[in-house]
Amino acid sequence: LNGDKDIEEKNIIWHKGKIGFEDRCRNLGQQGQVLWFTGLSASGKSTIAVELEWVLLEQGKAVYRLDGDNIRCGLNRDLDFSAEDRLENIRRIAEVAALFKDAGLITLVSFISPYRESREFARNLIGKEYFKEIYVKADIETCAQRDPKGLYKKALAGEIKDFTGISAPYEEPEEADLVIDTKDKTVEESVALVLRMLNNS
Ligand code: PPS
Repeated sequence: LNGDKDIEEKNIIWHKGKIGFEDRCRNLGQQGQVLWFTGLSASGKSTIAVELEWVLLEQGKAVYRLDGDNIRCGLNRDLDFSAEDRLENIRRIAEVAALFKDAGLITLVSFISPYRESREFARNLIGKEYFKEIYVKADIETCAQRDPKGLYKKALAGEIKDFTGISAPYEEPEEADLVIDTKDKTVEESVALVLRMLNNS
């Protein structure tokens, strides 16, 4: 925080504890890290994250999942789907994920996170070596056909404004660490791809 003018002006000084990230990871016997799932609504982000969380737990890992819909019920319930609020949504989640990673947890983040700028912010905040961007890819037609919550139907009827892919942007990742095309994959196959990436890193 050295040189962070905003913080210095408020007379806030970082309080260092006795234990740090390395100690916590050693204690848990794992590498604290963040797996960041991004993609359109109904692309499969949450479905893959839920299954992966279970598999990792079964392997004895300490794992925690942060999901857009769920966090918007509490911490971020004051935010809507304007560009400004989506940036704030992801800024807060990047901060929370950074804390969970610091606690040594394998943290699964599944938010649409439509803006490259905010995914880059998260990557830099969390640290490149502890951050994996996973693009859960499915074209808009496939997502609209799945429509598990009936949201595409409403958005196409003009009943939801600023709907991602219909009336709000989604900026595709250009250098994702992993791309999962869910159009013709089972959940198990998608989870296996993530596990392979984890085992190879
Ligand atoms: S974002 O863009 O990262 O801030 O969105 P996120 O916090 O992940 O929330 C996405 C879920 O909110 C529901 N929902 C909408 N999504 C997109 N656009 C609009 N306008 C919208 N309104 C409500 C929807 O259930 C999203 O969940 P997923 O799991 O992505 O389908």
